[in-house]
Amino acid sequence: MPPARTASTVRSPRFGDDWWQRGIVYQIYPRSFADADGDGFGDLQGIIDHLDHVGPGGLGIDAIWLSPIYPSPGLDVGYDVSDHTTVDPLFGTDDDFDRLVEEAHGRGIRVVLDLVMNHTSDQHPWFVASRASRTGPFADWYLWRDPSGHAPDGTPLPPNNWVSFFGGSGWEWEPAREQFYYHTFLPQQPELDWRTPAVEAAQLAMVRGWLARGVDGFRLDVFNAFLKHPDLLSNPTREGTSAWGRQIHLYDRDQPDFPDLMARFRAIVDSQPGRMSVGELFDGTVETAASLTTDRHLFFDWDLLGAPWRAQDLRTAIGSREAVFGPHRWPTAALSNHDQPRQASRLAASVADPDVDAVARAAAVLILTLRGTPFMYYGEELGLRDVDIPPDESVDPPAAVVAPDFQWWDRSRCRTPMPWSPGPGAGFTTGRPWLRLGPDAETRNVRTQAEDPGSILSLYRRLIALRAATPALQVGSLEMVPDQDASVVAYSRTTPDQTILVALNVGRERISWTVPGDPGSTRWRLVLRTAGADTPADELTAGESIEMDGDEGIILERVGRA
Ligand code: NOJ
Repeated sequence: MPPARTASTVRSPRFGDDWWQRGIVYQIYPRSFADADGDGFGDLQGIIDHLDHVGPGGLGIDAIWLSPIYPSPGLDVGYDVSDHTTVDPLFGTDDDFDRLVEEAHGRGIRVVLDLVMNHTSDQHPWFVASRASRTGPFADWYLWRDPSGHAPDGTPLPPNNWVSFFGGSGWEWEPAREQFYYHTFLPQQPELDWRTPAVEAAQLAMVRGWLARGVDGFRLDVFNAFLKHPDLLSNPTREGTSAWGRQIHLYDRDQPDFPDLMARFRAIVDSQPGRMSVGELFDGTVETAASLTTDRHLFFDWDLLGAPWRAQDLRTAIGSREAVFGPHRWPTAALSNHDQPRQASRLAASVADPDVDAVARAAAVLILTLRGTPFMYYGEELGLRDVDIPPDESVDPPAAVVAPDFQWWDRSRCRTPMPWSPGPGAGFTTGRPWLRLGPDAETRNVRTQAEDPGSILSLYRRLIALRAATPALQVGSLEMVPDQDASVVAYSRTTPDQTILVALNVGRERISWTVPGDPGSTRWRLVLRTAGADTPADELTAGESIEMDGDEGIILERVGRA
């Protein structure tokens, strides 16, 4: 960790210490956001140069989450970290990072870092020392075990049946130690042993270091996998379509003492006001996510992110998260991230003959009006699509080892550079982009959409401004509207002073939707619609009908009773 600096604090933010609940977080994939030095890779200076796009006067989000910025050989494109305490020269320097925090804070934007603490790169000095010998200060920092026996030809047999999520055995033989080490992900991502006190101490010291530099929160990569069963017991097996899926992951994640470890981490985060964390639930259930949720400490659960663009599926996903989280726990809302298809592509692919942009617009309403902190992935505000990447250009190693027992989706497709303007390099780079740009970058870019009041970007700006001015959309309770049309998903968001009604026509046909409430008495004002212009003066009384286009979202506010 470089010498201590004076921590930057956020200035004039839109929300106070409750921003983790009321605000919107925008995920930046640093390699792909903006390249200031022309090497084809995004960098910290590029992010600084484009803060006005995300901050006040632009989108108006409240925090940025940076996917890993640490030194990394890049085999898992940044999620294989070789030093958690500093910045990868690919992205800039520690001073650049401190300037980024300062520049973000100056605009009222908080900064959330991605912490990859379950594993390191095999190039991390801890692992280099650990693999070299069974003695020495780092010898027990990773999950080393003797073989369970030897095959007739002398080949050492793994300690248990654990497999890698990225395919193949989870155990790798190290001749220098004559032992196996475990890796949930690539063999080049050895698993730390969090039961070794020095590991926990080192990781928590690293967390304190980033907080001291003014960081406002952390996203915790696969956090529920940190602890394994102390005896590394073999997992029970079951029917499944992949090696990973054929195990019940009883012993390689979600251990009963994990909440205690989290409490120790959270005590550090909570020692300063306005800090938060969000854990990435790894291969777990929404019930597990909810049981780990507390104020300021959120979790990504996957039901909504996996739901197809069908009314019944969306209603079920929303209803089940409401039931599981209940009124006192706070969910997150995410429709995409750096591991998943772009939301427009994914949702549109789940229906026949979609108007992809219409789906993208309605999805914007969904993610920004559900109960829960929205996490927007960069580029969704333009309606970016997955990009076809030829195999020889793919930068996602697991995608290269797809096998019948290991299905994988090439994540390069959703990590392509942000298009800022028309022209070569799309304003992303003056060099050769590390991944190809989308074929529509000439027209689907920030500058072009910013000039068009009817664009997806303009819709996001309106929606975010509306959310910022509407407490019910930030913290209101959510109730599903009963007895809905087959293609409609509708819900209300309510605080004691305000009721907002959201309706999405998740079908291709134009429909006439009957506005709910006490017939003849509840009155609603139309505040936003995704097809065509808003007509804010329009008022409707419960029982009246409103026309909705296919894949249109509308937002109404209750204005009183007649
Ligand atoms: C989850 C991250 O989101 C993903 O990108 C990564 O490959 C795995 N963790 C392993 O670090």
